[in-house]
Amino acid sequence: MIDIHSHILPGLDDGSDTMEETLGMVRQLYKAGFKTLIATPHVLEGNDSLSPEEILAATDQVSKQVAEAGIPVEILPGAENYIFPDLAKWVRQGKLLTLGNTGKYLLVELPMLEIPQYTEQVFFELQVLGVTPVLAHPERNKGLIDQPARLLEWAKNGVLFQLNFRSLSGRYGPQSQELAEIMLRSNLIHFVGSDAHRTSQKDSTYLEALQSVEEVVGEERFREVTLINPQTIIAGKPLPGEREYILNGPIKKKRMNRFWRFYKRLRGKEED
Ligand SMILES: [Fe+2]
Repeated sequence: MIDIHSHILPGLDDGSDTMEETLGMVRQLYKAGFKTLIATPHVLEGNDSLSPEEILAATDQVSKQVAEAGIPVEILPGAENYIFPDLAKWVRQGKLLTLGNTGKYLLVELPMLEIPQYTEQVFFELQVLGVTPVLAHPERNKGLIDQPARLLEWAKNGVLFQLNFRSLSGRYGPQSQELAEIMLRSNLIHFVGSDAHRTSQKDSTYLEALQSVEEVVGEERFREVTLINPQTIIAGKPLPGEREYILNGPIKKKRMNRFWRFYKRLRGKEED
């Protein structure tokens, strides 16, 4: 599997603080089945924003340390870019790093509480440049929780979505959990990511969360979002085929109750 969203580069953002912590995170993700990790430190608009050169150098350093530690995991460069009106202009000027540095897919983050009014304009400008926006963890955005139909509209316009796979286990609260499930059932997830910022308390957390994703989407689709689609973007190729999206949800109350019981059980298990 390939994790397209992680904060494993030490000391660059609010993720890993030390190389030791980085190696611990990489080891845990490897145990969960990830053979490739894209390092995606936060990049924000500003004079002191992280440059592609800094990210590339840090990725290189981590790759070497991971190899020296004997962990068979490939580390690729990337960034999680917080949206701002001039995002596409920055891409054009070479100031932002795409996923895997292929120049084709940009991981974009929205603020947690709202959808900025320039969001669609930014997506459009990126696409004009031949860069496909990949929206990081849409299930965590309050505006999208309130209006999931916006996701459908964006997907039809070619925006791709990355799910934090732990959302489905309730890590980010019940509303994100519910939207995660709606998106998975609606075929609206193209990639998953750990969004790991530090080592997890338990080695099994990632694996359990991934298993719950597979339970919702089935084996074939799971393989697509964890391996086939990420492989395609790392190769800088277009995702194949026209996609059809139908919003399956919101989940009917009866069904939701069943899911609540199921996830309560899961959460209970995690707290043991
Ligand atoms: Fe992140």
